[in-house]
This record gives sequence, C-alpha cells and structure tokens, in this order.
Amino acid sequence: MEVIILPDAQAVARQAAHLIAQQIHRNPASVLGLATGSTPEPMYAELIRIHREGKLDFSRVTTFNLDEYLGLSPDHPASYHRFMHEKLFDHINVSKDRIYIPDGLTADVPKYCAWYEERIRAVGGIDIQVLGIGSDGHIGFNEPTSSLASRMRNKTLTQKTIEDNKRFFAPSEKVPTEVLTMGVGTIMEARTCILMAHGARKASVIAKMVEGPLTAMVTASVMQLHPRTFVMIDEAAATQLQMADYYRFQWENKPEWEKRAFFCHADKR
Ligand code: F6R
Repeated sequence: MEVIILPDAQAVARQAAHLIAQQIHRNPASVLGLATGSTPEPMYAELIRIHREGKLDFSRVTTFNLDEYLGLSPDHPASYHRFMHEKLFDHINVSKDRIYIPDGLTADVPKYCAWYEERIRAVGGIDIQVLGIGSDGHIGFNEPTSSLASRMRNKTLTQKTIEDNKRFFAPSEKVPTEVLTMGVGTIMEARTCILMAHGARKASVIAKMVEGPLTAMVTASVMQLHPRTFVMIDEAAATQLQMADYYRFQWENKPEWEKRAFFCHADKR
C-alpha cells in the first residue's frame, strides 16, 4: 500500500484523476472500476475537466460500477445509475454499451452476478479500481464480516451504512437494506486500486484499514494484501495514522522517474 497524504479533497481528486488519465493515455481501451458516494465526486469533476480540455478520450474505455441498491430503478434519484450519469457519464464520451452498473431490478440475482463477473473477465479484468471506504470499513458494500474471498452477490447493509446513506434519499423514503456488490475477491483482482478518503469522519477507519490487523471486521484492510494500492487521503483523514510522517517522507522522496510515471507533479509538496 502506498499512502499519499495530500492537503485537501481537491488535491486528492486531482491526483487520482491524474493516475486514471495516465492509465487511459497508456491504454485507450482501459477498464475502470468505479465507485459512487461523496468521496469520488470531485475526482469525476476533474476527469470531466480534463476531457473537456480535449486531453482525455473515453471512447474505448469500459467501466464497471461496484454496487447498486436492490429494488431501485435506474432512474430513481438515489440510484447509482443516476449518480454515475449525472456526475460523470453524461459529460464524457464514454460509449453507452461499455458502461456496466449492477442492475438493482434483476429478477435472478445469482445468475446476474455471475454474468457481471463474466463480463469483467471477458474484457480482461479491471485496470484501475476506484474505491471509497465506509465508516464501518466497507469497500463496495462488503460490510464487516464479509468473506475476504467473496464474489459479486447480494448483501444486507449494516445500520451504520443505512444511517450514513440516508442523506442521499428523500426524508420520507427508506434506504433499501439490500444491495448488489462486487465481492472483496472481485475487487482484489483489479491490477491497481485507488482508495480515496477525506475528512475527519474517515480518520479512524483509515487508521484501522492501513495500520490495523487484517480482519473481515474492516473489509478494506484486505487491501494490505493487494500488490498495487494507492491510498489517497487528505490531512483530516490522516490524523490517526501512527506512521503519517513516514508516508509523507516516502512521498516527498519518491524518485523522479516514479513520480513522472504515476503522479501529478503539481501536487508534490
Ligand atoms: C459506493 C461504495 C461505497 C462508498 C462508501 C463511502 O459505490 O462502494 O463503498 O465508497 O460507502 O461513501 P462516501 O464516499 O459517500 O463516504
């Protein structure tokens, strides 16, 4: 894991978008795994900006979203379909037939999940997986005690996640309790992962994930076993990391060739 502490959420967004843009420049037919929620929003805005400046072509890119609420139609305002179209897809030149978002209305969950995983395999796997982290340590919607080898399936949300996600729903509405999510094992097969977090609210769970024991109680801690994961966080989310000074030292002293290959020079502090 490479922990990169940046001044604020905007710098995290710029750095993550830069890494994705580099990947697409290297391989225009890249496969991206995408997340929803508040965390990746500024990064999507940054990708749109780079695209509008004519510097990023998504026409051959394929995308797979991590998760969706079961029972929500794609046009429901809180659905992840709506989120992705509003925050990213409607503003870039990605081809509609290369967008995959789990179908919350599927009639046959096991069959659908097997098909979704097969689609990921058919395009050669995910090059970069974007991840947020839940306040209970989930990645995707892999709640505490999810199998660390799990594949895509339905999952029941914890009360904590239901509370956290109320803000995306109208006050009169109930947050669905059941979701479809890529499994932890599915996520771990991505060649590169970028896990982002900002704000003091995420400080405790980031410390557990990066420096705590590997445990299914914090499913994100499995990223300790992933060979190429960048944890991009702001100062507020870094406050409980014991090794924060080391991560800063490492980032500042990264060899130039490595910086050039992967990182946004503007963000070197
Ligand atoms: C969303 C997802 C979730 C979120 C997590 C954090 O597709 O997979 O794991 O990344 O719940 O959500 P925010 O960013 O809203 O704090």
